[in-house]
Amino acid sequence: MASSTALTSDTEAWKDLKGHVEDIKKTHLRDLMSDANRCQSMMMEFDGLLLDYSRQRATVETMDKLLNLAKAAQLTEKISRMFNGEHINSTENRSVLHVALRAPKDAVIKADGKNVVPEVWNVLDKIKEFSEKIRSGSWVGATGKPLKDVIAIGIGGSFLGPLFVHTALQTDPEALESAKGRQLRFLANIDPVDVARNIIGLNPETTLVVVVSKTFTTAETMLNARTLREWITAALGASAVAKHMVAVSTNLALVEKFGIDPNNAFAFWDWVGGRYSVCSAVGVLPLSLQYGFSVVEKFLKGASSIDQHFQSTPFEKNIPVLLGLLSVWNVSFLGYPARAILPYSQALEKFAPHIQQVSMESNGKGVSIDGLPLPFETGEIDFGEPGTNGQHSFYQLIHQGRVIPCDFIGIVKSQQPVYLKGEVVSNHDELMSNFFAQPDALAYGKTPEQLQKENVSEFLIPHKTFSGNRPSLSLLLPELTAYNVGQLLAIYEHRVAVQGFVWGINSFDQWGVELGKVLATQVRKQLHSSRTQGTALEGFNYSTTTLLKRYLETSSEPQM
Ligand code: F6P
Repeated sequence: MASSTALTSDTEAWKDLKGHVEDIKKTHLRDLMSDANRCQSMMMEFDGLLLDYSRQRATVETMDKLLNLAKAAQLTEKISRMFNGEHINSTENRSVLHVALRAPKDAVIKADGKNVVPEVWNVLDKIKEFSEKIRSGSWVGATGKPLKDVIAIGIGGSFLGPLFVHTALQTDPEALESAKGRQLRFLANIDPVDVARNIIGLNPETTLVVVVSKTFTTAETMLNARTLREWITAALGASAVAKHMVAVSTNLALVEKFGIDPNNAFAFWDWVGGRYSVCSAVGVLPLSLQYGFSVVEKFLKGASSIDQHFQSTPFEKNIPVLLGLLSVWNVSFLGYPARAILPYSQALEKFAPHIQQVSMESNGKGVSIDGLPLPFETGEIDFGEPGTNGQHSFYQLIHQGRVIPCDFIGIVKSQQPVYLKGEVVSNHDELMSNFFAQPDALAYGKTPEQLQKENVSEFLIPHKTFSGNRPSLSLLLPELTAYNVGQLLAIYEHRVAVQGFVWGINSFDQWGVELGKVLATQVRKQLHSSRTQGTALEGFNYSTTTLLKRYLETSSEPQM
């Protein structure tokens, strides 16, 4: 781009792609898919992964033009600036270095002139030692019992990533074996119902609570932390906190103020964004407590493998770059507002919710990084469910209603294979039959002529017609070990960064979450004074006043 304040949409490369949309509108995936050379050029392999993006509404020419856009958006330079620790999160004046969290011990990654890798490994070593003490029973609770259950309190980035990885590992044979006799639960919502669900069946004597909060000020997390502190102290006395509560935060002063021994706090740094923090103590501590550090280390290695690929592979073979460029193409040029994330794996059931935050909190922006209003939309609406559950739910809309680019994620080797004698295929093959079939159903569709040949009655033909030409991509993982889970995470993290870099926005701040928090403070104050002093409602509009009045008059919340 000519100057730092230029918009991506002002570049020739962007305009060229705008013009190219008309060419693509004339194509149908049925025809594009019959070009074997094109399809071959749209297969990418790396470290056991296979990406097939031949079912995107793109030609070889489209890809060239997207690569030109990457150049115009200075993607190479922006990626380097990220890895070099420059303050690319300019509105918060911070580096963006989640890649350092999974870097090998001997790597050098600098923030503000200082190599941060040794600090990262200090914390990892501390987690290793602590989690081994807990798991071996050498660290015991206030009554001398080993701590076999963990509740991790945190929300947003301090919850969704760790939950995704935990869910993915739960049935991995190695992880399953190492988690025997242990439980890991997550408390996120301030809804007291979530507290109740978390503590059901747990005994404070054998429970360790990990409070996870980057800022240690998040209202939900802090009230949940106080609630579980009360649960522990009511049963075991105030001194039990030292044995039963630990913390993960960048704000160690507030951790201490809360009453947690600073020796039992695990640090991370302001160059780790909340939604990019699963590879810090945020995820590594609870996951190591559950599965042991050696399993979690494999997860970090998988992510690191993708980091290196992302940093050093030419763009035409670079999986996160290709995925990011295609998402920009789908959103900004083809005008598709959403993206469905469809893992054909129950173990990945929490992947879409995690990517929702990674993607939507990062790229749901209205201005460029320089503060200019954007004349185009950024971000997409991410949602998803594991196949085949989604097929029996929202796929109708994807097949015959709105066009939604789909990510199909499949696994070659099941974590838990089952084959019943006499069945046509194994259970995993049955699942994967759907993984292979759905992308073609979307791409090819079904024409009225085909239906006529099948003697479908005339009046049903419009209802049974599938227009096809609906884009998707397929990502095939060899298996779903901790290593592969790390790969998958890093691919999506970097894909989102690529999108933001090309759109010219700041993908690493989240000012949009602040306003609601401020207004909630005003409501909280009002609820307190109305409940305790009967203060009349003041300063709210007609609608909110009416709702609050109804709430106060008809509820009987217990008061302190
Ligand atoms: O409200 C959004 C947010 O700031 C997220 O970005 C973050 O992941 C989450 O809140 C939790 O924040 P913390 O880790 O500071 O409690």
